[in-house]
Amino acid sequence: MEFSHVPVLFRETIESLCVRPDGVYADCTAGGGGHSAAIEEKLATGRLIAIDRDPDAIETLTARFSDKPDVTVVHDNFLNIGAIRALYAPEGFDGVLADLGVSSHQLDTPERGFSFHTDGALDMRMSQSGKSAYDVVNTYDEGTLRRILYEYGEEKCAGSIARRIVSERQKKPIETTLELAEIVKSGIPAKMRREGGHPARRAFQAIRIEVNDELKILDEAVFSMFDALKVGGILSVITFHSLEDRTVKNAFKTLSTGCTCPPYFPVCTCGKTPAGKLLNRGVAPGEKELEQNPRSRSARLRTIQKLKDRV
Ligand SMILES: C[S@@+](CC[C@H](N)C(=O)[O-])C[C@H]1O[C@@H](n2cnc3c(N)ncnc32)[C@H](O)[C@@H]1O
Repeated sequence: MEFSHVPVLFRETIESLCVRPDGVYADCTAGGGGHSAAIEEKLATGRLIAIDRDPDAIETLTARFSDKPDVTVVHDNFLNIGAIRALYAPEGFDGVLADLGVSSHQLDTPERGFSFHTDGALDMRMSQSGKSAYDVVNTYDEGTLRRILYEYGEEKCAGSIARRIVSERQKKPIETTLELAEIVKSGIPAKMRREGGHPARRAFQAIRIEVNDELKILDEAVFSMFDALKVGGILSVITFHSLEDRTVKNAFKTLSTGCTCPPYFPVCTCGKTPAGKLLNRGVAPGEKELEQNPRSRSARLRTIQKLKDRV
């Protein structure tokens, strides 16, 4: 299977993990295996667990690492990182990586239904199971559609787009990505269509997040990934939009905050110390990467090191 994906913030991410030759690592979003291959190259006696929820990615990863006995490919949701740790890294991981969002393979394969540029059945399921974009668009009530478009797409025209979707699907079900893109466009006033790239970009992001439950999973998974580290281990997360980045930033803030005494206390009485130490405050792609890979423009890399277990 052709699986093309240019990993973003590549050098910065691999450097952030400070890979030890004898370490045990988890790539939670292994995709086409770009980041995974770079981690594996640095291992001597160590191991890499390459995880993805997409069966296409698993097929690609299995073929790519078939001659690498130090790589184990695991088809799972990274929300289950605790169980994966128990099985493959009982002492905890030396490093965990999550490169969130969709792969170029998912975006560029029309049948996967992620793209508003090419026509395909409305799907958008990373795991290729469960509810699809077709179900969301054709069965959710107008209020829920409006909320999703607003919350997950930060779409200013959420109300009129939701209204258009409901009125169009009364004539016939909305079946393809280009049909949906046209309906979204018709719900946005002409003068606003030119703001922020393709007019359907925000709505497609919102529906994709809903289909794959991305933000709810991330909210819990960041803490589970941190818990899966051994003390001294490093967690690096690459986000692709402000909602994801806020989730990771807030989680890292909680993990790196020690004392919770009110600021007017002259001395600390709670005795709490941070569980983690921030190793950066959000790395953005440099100009060269932006030029070569415009899809990297909204990417941010955040890294935290575990100092102790959370209590
Ligand atoms: C941006 S791509 C990763 C690309 C990868 N770093 C590479 O170098 O090819 C994101 C991948 O994460 C996977 N993914 C997203 N959410 C996931 C989850 N909750 N559990 C497991 N995999 C997930 C997607 O299926 C996709 O393959």
